[in-house]
Amino acid sequence: MAVPSAPSEPVPSNGGMEHEEEAIRVLKPRRAAPADAVRPTRAEINLGALRQNLRVLKRALASSPAAESSPAIWGVLKADAYGHGAPAIARTLERAGVDGICVALLEEGLELRAAGIEVPVVVMGGYYGPHHRGLEDAIEGDLVPVLYEAGQLERLSHIARDRDRRVPFQLKVDTNMSRLGCSLSEVDELLESIASTPELELRGLMSHLACADSADPAPTLAQLRLFEDVRARAASRGLSPSVCHVANSAGALAFPASRYQAVRPGIALYGISPFYGRSTDGLSEEIARISSELRPAMRVRSEIVALRTLKDGDRVGYGHTWTASGERRIATIPMGYADGLSRALSNRGSFLVRGRRAPIAGIVSMDLTTIDVTDVPGVRLGDEVVVLGSQSSGQESAVITAEEIAEIVGTIPWEVITNISRRVPRFYREP
Ligand SMILES: Cc1ncc(COP(=O)(O)O)c(C=O)c1O
Repeated sequence: MAVPSAPSEPVPSNGGMEHEEEAIRVLKPRRAAPADAVRPTRAEINLGALRQNLRVLKRALASSPAAESSPAIWGVLKADAYGHGAPAIARTLERAGVDGICVALLEEGLELRAAGIEVPVVVMGGYYGPHHRGLEDAIEGDLVPVLYEAGQLERLSHIARDRDRRVPFQLKVDTNMSRLGCSLSEVDELLESIASTPELELRGLMSHLACADSADPAPTLAQLRLFEDVRARAASRGLSPSVCHVANSAGALAFPASRYQAVRPGIALYGISPFYGRSTDGLSEEIARISSELRPAMRVRSEIVALRTLKDGDRVGYGHTWTASGERRIATIPMGYADGLSRALSNRGSFLVRGRRAPIAGIVSMDLTTIDVTDVPGVRLGDEVVVLGSQSSGQESAVITAEEIAEIVGTIPWEVITNISRRVPRFYREP
């Protein structure tokens, strides 16, 4: 298996290859290294906050009505651990006692194994390419593949026979999200074929919840009923996967019945409530308390690299969308949309300087953003600027949350944090 060991150019995954024997080459993402950082723009990842969030979840999810013991916690580390840097996050969570890890892509799983991660890793995306190679790589890399269609089962059983051993996998069932997973009309046939193929070890049965964060419990309860029905159909064929799991952060917290033997929290681990934007409607006091105990693990900061005084009528940025009314001080920050700062923040978002809010003035450009610091006393070149997270200075203190940015941009906090691009180096710190 050719996993490049050093940062490398992206290479196509089996692009144009006809021969299965040829090794699949997986893209190993290039990540800005702290040692190479010249710009002061960086994401600081607080590993203590991550551990605290894991502890909060473990305590909150201590029981699972559908299982005998508390559910295992399988942290969701797809998309480079939601932008936090998967290897470091996996190492921290593994040491803190996480039971397993879920990723979306084969290459994400291989990256974790190459980083020495030993806990079970489930590849949820279910895509291994059209040939044997991807699935073989998953098995060779000690990853647990998620499968959902007959062709995949057939390929896996070939691999098992070639190796003369049983291979574990998980089956994903679509319980009315209509995204990924075998449909309820196909599930009997698949279960039948799994039951009659001894080399296939059905280790897990999973589904995904579409509306667990919503105030209306009905769609989630309906999905859980469908999942229960599939479990019963599996049991009637003598199949009893050791781990059933359906719950994301919101499901795990709000629907105890969804916890089964394992839960798959993502956003809550990174310190953001999955119920953001929902005031207190329908949220129990307990969930509100748990949400308040989560600590955001990511802070994004930079520095002022240029500072100028504008006179009345001077214009700022592309399209001249901002005009100085009276004398104004404008600071330039070396971070733009190529770093994952949404252009939709132009003239709408703010950053923090000296513990105060400074509004974005003009259009966010690819590498630079300008802010109005007229109301920041004593502002100077080199001052720290916080783009996401909190900042204190003397008596002043303020915070910009992923929820706030999401609201302005019209997206969700998940997108805000995963968007912080690989060009921004991640610096890990202990509190
Ligand atoms: C299949 C699956 N499980 C679990 C999660 C984790 O969800 P969350 O970040 O809302 O906890 C995701 C994320 O989107 C997912 O796609």
